Amino acid sequence: MLQSTSLHVAIIMDGNGRWAARRSLPRAAGHRAGADAVRRVVEAAPDAGVAALTLFAFSSDNWKRPPGEVAALMRLFARYLRSETPRLLQNRVRLDVIGRRDRLPAPLVTAIRAAELATGAGTALRLRLAVDYSARAAIAAGETLPDVDLLIRTGGEQRLSDFLLWECAYAELYFTETMWPDFSAADLTDALRAFHSRQRRFGGLPEAAAG
Ligand code: IPE
Ligand code: IPE
Ligand code: MG
Repeated sequence: MLQSTSLHVAIIMDGNGRWAARRSLPRAAGHRAGADAVRRVVEAAPDAGVAALTLFAFSSDNWKRPPGEVAALMRLFARYLRSETPRLLQNRVRLDVIGRRDRLPAPLVTAIRAAELATGAGTALRLRLAVDYSARAAIAAGETLPDVDLLIRTGGEQRLSDFLLWECAYAELYFTETMWPDFSAADLTDALRAFHSRQRRFGGLPEAAAG
């Protein structure tokens, strides 16, 4: 599907905990399975016409979770960055992490810097991982991104949870019941198909009526 080749897709990757609970697994197992879904989607994105992909991995409100879960997530992020960097390089993905860094564990900050430095020349996909991210804080600090074309939220909830509030002013919203660890390349294609079937007007008139 290559109707447009410069889309900015953003994903609220929700449902890891419920995915695990349904399997009587610890929540951390859901987060690990979620990392596999990230790999699948990152690798499918360029061929699907996605030029920029912004993924919500940890919100500034997620610090409210139990310390054990937070620590497991921080370790998982560092491990993901270290283990994925070769694949990101191979796929010419440029990775950046957005959000606050001053509250992250030092080994994670080191892993972030290394991954950003290593992948800085990538041109196939601009991948942004949001960690300790709050859209309200980002707006207040003047740190905004390009407009989002399509916002996907997995896990069944229909809310933005302080993600890319500014950038989603005219985003098409796509909510799916699929839990994030189950999200596949085909699910991304389905979301993009829905996106391409919508008519974006940006406050104007449909093309046919605008003449
Ligand atoms: C999303 O999954 C991942 C993070 C917020 C870190 P959740 O952990 O929110 O999973 P649910 O919503 O409890 O199922
Ligand atoms: C939003 O999910 C944050 C991420 C997916 C990283 P949450 O699970 O934290 O959101 P709420 O609490 O349901 O709004
Ligand atoms: Mg959740």
